Amino acid sequence: MFDVLTAMPDDPILSISTAAAADKRADKIDLGVGIYKDEAGHTPVMRAVKAAEFAYAGLETTKKYVSTTGLEAFNTALLTLVLGDIDTSHFATCQGAGGSGALRIGAELIKRASDSAVVYVPTPTWGNHTPLIGSAGIEMKSYPYYDRAELDVNFAAMSEFLSTVPKAGDVIILHGCCHNPTGADLSPDQWDSLADILTANGLIAYVDIAYLGLGDGLDEDCYGVRKLAETQDEMLIAASCSKNFGLYRDRVGLIAVKTKSKAQADIAKSHMGRVMRRMISMPPNHGAAVVAHILGDDELRAEWLKELNEMRERMNGLRRSLAYALDVQGHEDMGAALARQKGMFSMLPVTPEQAARLRKDHSVYLLDSGRINIAGAAQDDIERLASAILDIF
Ligand code: LMR
Repeated sequence: MFDVLTAMPDDPILSISTAAAADKRADKIDLGVGIYKDEAGHTPVMRAVKAAEFAYAGLETTKKYVSTTGLEAFNTALLTLVLGDIDTSHFATCQGAGGSGALRIGAELIKRASDSAVVYVPTPTWGNHTPLIGSAGIEMKSYPYYDRAELDVNFAAMSEFLSTVPKAGDVIILHGCCHNPTGADLSPDQWDSLADILTANGLIAYVDIAYLGLGDGLDEDCYGVRKLAETQDEMLIAASCSKNFGLYRDRVGLIAVKTKSKAQADIAKSHMGRVMRRMISMPPNHGAAVVAHILGDDELRAEWLKELNEMRERMNGLRRSLAYALDVQGHEDMGAALARQKGMFSMLPVTPEQAARLRKDHSVYLLDSGRINIAGAAQDDIERLASAILDIF
């Protein structure tokens, strides 16, 4: 039976880091997949995570299943982290296998609730959004978001589109912060206007907040998602602990769905439990237990926040250095765009051919779209990186 299968093309994001790993040049710079790296190029286990793992190992008395919707202590703690201390009785929550697993559960729920809802993603968006959500059998379309010439959000085009094209009940994917792949985020004023547009047109926000804490800070990064939670009757949120807790391989995320009543939230939760049962039956416990432990312990929580701030500061420092180096070498616009963008990513205004030249001639590994993961560089790489970028123009 399997001899009819033909090989799948490489994943456009993951394959870049595979190519970087195979490159033997000592000065290579891997700006590919979105994982945090320290100055030595290492992705460490966070101190608070290690401490929580030791503590939790001593406390754990059983390995029996938790539940189809995961660890409630985790679900509640992460939702409170994202939304702050508000009434969340209209929210249904479920643990996901990372932010991706969470996104997929939300997609399955949308499909169960509506056969006609179209899900709109921004242009551009994370390369796996459309395959991952679309695999639930949902029609996927896109809305204008980033202006490659201006190197910024085109909020006028986005607003105009969302006010006129999608129909009531369609779903709009929004990056809560640290837009992947551009790093170009909405301002608080723009989030406010967006909330009005969604309300006026009956659109459902689906906020993907995978990089929480890595933009301007924990509370600042939550401005948009909190605004929508306050103003919208219904919405979805997919949160991830891969980047901000460094729990990539432990696969920890949360899907939270706001409904119109507590009773409706209970029903939505029963559907998410059913989706899980049919997909993977039960979620894994370890990472969720670690996050719940950290967020429930004042000392560990403070330690985690300190580390999160250190990570953000390192990335912001690299961003400033690269922006400055591009600026002094005559590319003021690119430098200024880099400086105002947020989080792990920025998108250089290069063609796929120029991106390929950066990889081949300069051993600088970025995506064909021009996306760079700034955390992949060390401070010592910045001058060379800026020169390589300028060389291909
Ligand atoms: C990325 O965008 O590089 C990360 O979210 C990792 C991934 O799975 O694509």
